Amino acid sequence: TYIVTDNCIKCKYMDCVEVCPVDCFYEGENMLVIHPDECIDCGVCEPECPAEAILPDTEPGQEAWLELNTKFADVWPNITEKREPPEDAAKFDGETGKLEKYFS
Ligand code: SF4
Ligand code: F3S
Repeated sequence: TYIVTDNCIKCKYMDCVEVCPVDCFYEGENMLVIHPDECIDCGVCEPECPAEAILPDTEPGQEAWLELNTKFADVWPNITEKREPPEDAAKFDGETGKLEKYFS
């Protein structure tokens, strides 16, 4: 499966939802997650994310993000259409440790 990771937080560009063939993105206030059981591993979303926040879960050290995607995909609503990203998205792009600072 693919997963959404730290740099999505407060960037939330949403280009990813436009390309997913199985509509498996779910929306929180500050970020999106992928439903790991619905993702068919096609990989098309990975290069579409301007924040480079999407990774295959086979990348080392991503266990906590897989857990977070799994947990919130079950409770957040499905999102299938891109909207305007936050106005200040670029300001947060590349900042580290966003989970601790901003996740809600
Ligand atoms: Fe959707 Fe493919 Fe990305 Fe999985 S890898 S979330 S199926 S676009
Ligand atoms: Fe987030 Fe990138 Fe999608 S910033 S909303 S994973 S395009």
